[in-house]
Order: sequence, then C-alpha cells, then structure tokens
Amino acid sequence: MSERPQAPRGTFDVLPADARRRQVLIEDCESTFAAAGYGRLETPVFESTELFARGVGESTDIVQKEMFTFEDQGGRSLTLRPEGTAPVCRAYVQHGMHKQPQPVRLWYHGPYFRHEAPQAGRFRQFSQIGAEALGSEDPTLDAELILLLADLLERAGARGLRLRLSSLGTPATRRAYGEELREHLRAREGELSDEVRARLDSNPLRAFDSDHAGTRAVLEDAPRLLDRLEPDDAEHLDAVRGLLDDAGQPYEIDGTLVRGLDYYTRTVFEFTSDALGAQSGVGGGGRYDGLVEQLGGPPTPGVGWAAGVERILLASERETPEQSPAVFVALDEGANAREAFAMVRALRAEGLPAQMEQAGRSLKGQLKHADRLGAARVVVVGDGEYQVRDMRTGAQHPAASSDEALALARDGAA
Ligand code: HAM
Repeated sequence: MSERPQAPRGTFDVLPADARRRQVLIEDCESTFAAAGYGRLETPVFESTELFARGVGESTDIVQKEMFTFEDQGGRSLTLRPEGTAPVCRAYVQHGMHKQPQPVRLWYHGPYFRHEAPQAGRFRQFSQIGAEALGSEDPTLDAELILLLADLLERAGARGLRLRLSSLGTPATRRAYGEELREHLRAREGELSDEVRARLDSNPLRAFDSDHAGTRAVLEDAPRLLDRLEPDDAEHLDAVRGLLDDAGQPYEIDGTLVRGLDYYTRTVFEFTSDALGAQSGVGGGGRYDGLVEQLGGPPTPGVGWAAGVERILLASERETPEQSPAVFVALDEGANAREAFAMVRALRAEGLPAQMEQAGRSLKGQLKHADRLGAARVVVVGDGEYQVRDMRTGAQHPAASSDEALALARDGAA
C-alpha cells in the first residue's frame, strides 16, 4: 500500500475530545432511562438479512439500496443492522418477553450501518440511541417516549429543535389512502420526479419526502391521510396531543410526515434541528403495532424512537472539559524513575487521577507541562526526598518519605 490508509468512506474516528461528549450523552441516557423504568438491551451488530427485509419493508430505501449485506461461510445472508427496532422485536419474541408484565420498556445504543451517500451529518457507520416500549397501545406511552427524547435533547443542549407529529392510522387505512394518493399523482404524472414516478406502484406515500418542485406542487392539493383516519386512530392521536399539551411540549401537526420505514401505524414523529443542514432529522419514531406479529410473535403493539448521536452532538455546542490529572509526578535530577512510577500507582489507588513525566523534560519544562494539564499538585521526586507543590498557590512543602508525600498530595499542607 503506497498511500496512507484512511478510514473507509462515510466512517470516522472518535477522538478523545469527542469521546468525552459522547460519554456524557450516554450517561444522561442511563439516568433518564433508569428513572423511567427502561432496561438496556444489546443485540448483535449483524442479523439475518430476512429480519430487515420483513421488518423494515422490501420497498424502503433502506432495504433496497442501503444495507451492508454479506454471506457468511455457511452461505447464510447476513446484514449489518441499519436500524434497531426490528432487532428489538426479534429479541422480544425470541426471549418470550411477552410473558413478562407489559409494557416491556427497553433502550439501546450502539453502531448502525447504512450505505448512503456521505454528507454532513450522514454517515455509513453512525450511532443511535433508541427506546422501545412493547405490549401496550396506551397513548401515554407514545407521549412518554416523545417527552423522554425531548428531555434528552434538551439535556444535550441541542439547538433549534422542532417536533413534527402525525398519525399513519392502520395499515388498511394507509392502503386505501395509498390508492387515493396514487390516483391523484397519476393524474399529473408528467410533473413528478422520475424517482417518485418509479415508486408510484410500490410506495406512493414516499412522494412526501421529495424536494422536487414539480412533485411538491402536485402534492399541495393532494388528499391527506390525517383526514382519512378511523375514529379510533383519530382519538388516539388526540389523546397523545392532549398529553403533550399538558406537558407544555410544543409540536406541529404535519400530515406530510411519512417515515422511511414500513412498520409504522398510528403515531409518527420527528425532531428536527435548525442548527443542522440538509440532514436535519435528529431523532424520530412512532408506533408499530403490527411488527412483532409480522416477525412471528403474538399480536403486540409497540412504540419507540431512535436518535443519531452524531446529529445530537452537531446540533449542540457544548464542550466537555478535559479530564485533568489531580497530581503530576515530576522527576528531579537523580530521581529514581521506579519510585515515581510507584508513586503514580499509589496515587491512583487512592482515587486521585495521576500522571508522571515520561518525555524527558527538564524540571522547569515538567512544571509547565503539569500546569498545562491542569494538575492541582505536583510531587517532585528527588534523590531520596520529595517536594509537594500546590499549583494554585505555588507553595512547596518538603516530604521525607513517599508516604508523607502521598498524604500531602492527597490532603494538601495543614
Ligand atoms: P430513522 O429515522 O431511520 O429511524 O433513524 C433515526 C435517527 O438516526 C435519525 O433521526 C438520524 O438522527 C439517525 N440517522 C439515520 N441515518 C443516519 C446516517 N446515515 N448518518 C447519521 N445519522 C443517521 C429508525 O432508525 C427507527 N428504528 C426509529 C424507531 C424506533 N422507530 C420506532 N422505534
């Protein structure tokens, strides 16, 4: 290889400063989800290809063109997971979670993979945080999940947030509506984009995702699914709205919100951020009352969401301060490096973050380095003696033994 190797297209390395921000986000999730009774679930990074074909839907972009699919040595078709909901439902059925008290509340985070054209905020390997509640169609669960995501986004400092909300009704309503929409689109087929025209038969609703001017003009006076909902579904949406209103959560009802996955029924929602460019979706989700059954389980309603970690961090500007060592162990002339090494280990054992000199700097250079690192104290190891320096005051105290130096570094001078 003559060129220097690079991370594959659409992937990235997480450097320590970014890793800290991600860590803080995950810690926020841990406490938020624990308080709401969500248990963490981990599923494999790859699953059988069939799970996604059946779960996410054959006519979706994800299944048609975005999956990283490969054959294992036994000839089985496997796919790097493009999303987390189908795997969670698979695990729910596989582990008989329908026998537990319902609803079962789960959350997850980890890497996901989609073969999309990379651009700002869109990667081929990205991370999602997600939450799912299975086994109840109660509208308080829809509202609970939406509000949990709103809380997390706020804690992360995401800016310019907007929440769009809609309902897709039942599959039967959607099918009938699809026919009606198809007819409307057919009547002005010449004005549509090639892509929308190609999908007229399989998935006419996806026309609402198009930013093609002609298509948008045709859609302006198209019938709306929201006006075709069955009374039960309309009531369910009203109940969710009432709960969000009571909680003071702003939202816009948007009848053009269709999500890129086929499993949705009833509630769908999406948070976008004005701080992001074209890829403005920070997180979204909805109800999928037929998915568990479709994957071979008992009829089980479900609702949930997923949010992109990279997009949350792009939408927020918060810096996470670097972790400073509390103590830096410096080496003076004649110092025994093994003594310094033992001192660092003893400090760490006391719970004090500690580092030692390992780059051959002069004592002056070492003090400058300790200052740059933000160390509160420096233990200078000399020839059989120690000095403990307080970096804030500049005061320096001698210590006759390593134990005494350790105590001074830990507690400061009396
Ligand atoms: P999704 O809308 O496909 O939903 O993805 C959720 C979030 O993942 C997006 O809002 C975005 O932040 C992030 N995301 C998706 N693709 C990429 C990408 N290529 N690069 C960076 N970030 C990306 C789902 O995945 C559903 N499983 C959500 C759900 C859970 N519905 C019900 N339960």
